[in-house]
Amino acid sequence: MATPQPAIFDEMGRNQWYVHLSRVDGADLGRIRTVLRDAINGAAGHDLNLCVGFGPTLLADLGGPAVEDFQPYETFVAGDGSGREAKGTQEELLLWYNGTEKDMIWEMQFNARTALAGHMAVARETPTFIWRDSWDLTGFVDGTGNPEDHRQPDVALIPDGQVGAGGSFAIAQRWVHDLDSFNALPLDQQEAVFGRHKAPYTGKLAEVPNTAHVAHVELRKDGNHGQEGSPKRDEIARRSTPYAFHDGTVGLYFMGFCKSQAPLRERMNLMYNTDGSGVRDQLTDFSNPASGSFYFAPSVEDLDAMLT
Ligand code: HEM
Repeated sequence: MATPQPAIFDEMGRNQWYVHLSRVDGADLGRIRTVLRDAINGAAGHDLNLCVGFGPTLLADLGGPAVEDFQPYETFVAGDGSGREAKGTQEELLLWYNGTEKDMIWEMQFNARTALAGHMAVARETPTFIWRDSWDLTGFVDGTGNPEDHRQPDVALIPDGQVGAGGSFAIAQRWVHDLDSFNALPLDQQEAVFGRHKAPYTGKLAEVPNTAHVAHVELRKDGNHGQEGSPKRDEIARRSTPYAFHDGTVGLYFMGFCKSQAPLRERMNLMYNTDGSGVRDQLTDFSNPASGSFYFAPSVEDLDAMLT
């Protein structure tokens, strides 16, 4: 049975660091292989989780599995003329560190990016943290509807017997919140944005409006998304955490895993109502991503083969 990268399912530490890189001219694949091997060993030696994700180009060039339907992230543009969009900023490599000790996370990512200099350049990075009991900065608990732990491998991993078995498709986005506008809404309107009650409560609203976030992401077999009645379909495993920059920019670093990429794209298309046939997720009135990319996190066995 293929082994998933442990960092996907291990308990997340309270600190995370996301580093996105792409190759520069003259990049040496041998050097990249060596640095990634060292990075994986270094993180393990310091009890940190490191998940390594590859964009389509680097996955192919390192001889990774030819997984089905792995597309680069293109900007999702709202179909209602509102100008809202989820910007595409596809890169080739994601190093996602998390653990308890922020200093060691800093050190490990610094060592990796320094060793990659001249071969890969850092395009963007975001240190994030867990706030309270997994609250988003809007004050809503984030993660309530995640599949139970024992079901997550089934949701997130390519099954054995298929190309890329044990690997997972990931989406990584930095959403920027307009908290002034959101916090100005009365409580019932804030709750209507998500379709759930505000922390410390987590329950679903008795009536979920069709503009609510969960009406776009809680996919149901009968098409009545966000409503009880028929079973959920195409679930994903989320690992999102908040961030706060020194210039006052705050938001959610959205990280989700799935055994195929289509359910990640489908949710983005529904949230932005890209084809204009539905209604936009009201959350996008208050938050939009400044960056977004898709990666593939290969199994331990495929990763070993790619880095040898
Ligand atoms: C600003 C960005 C976002 C915020 C603040 C946010 C917040 C939330 C909150 C508070 C919930 C309800 C509680 C829970 O189940 O966790 C939720 C549910 C969910 N969100 Fe988001 N979310 C964001 C973006 C996204 C994106 C981009 C996706 C997918 C591409 C997504 C997928 C989901 C899913 C699958 C659920 C659970 C639905 C279910 O119960 O099955 N979210 N989100």
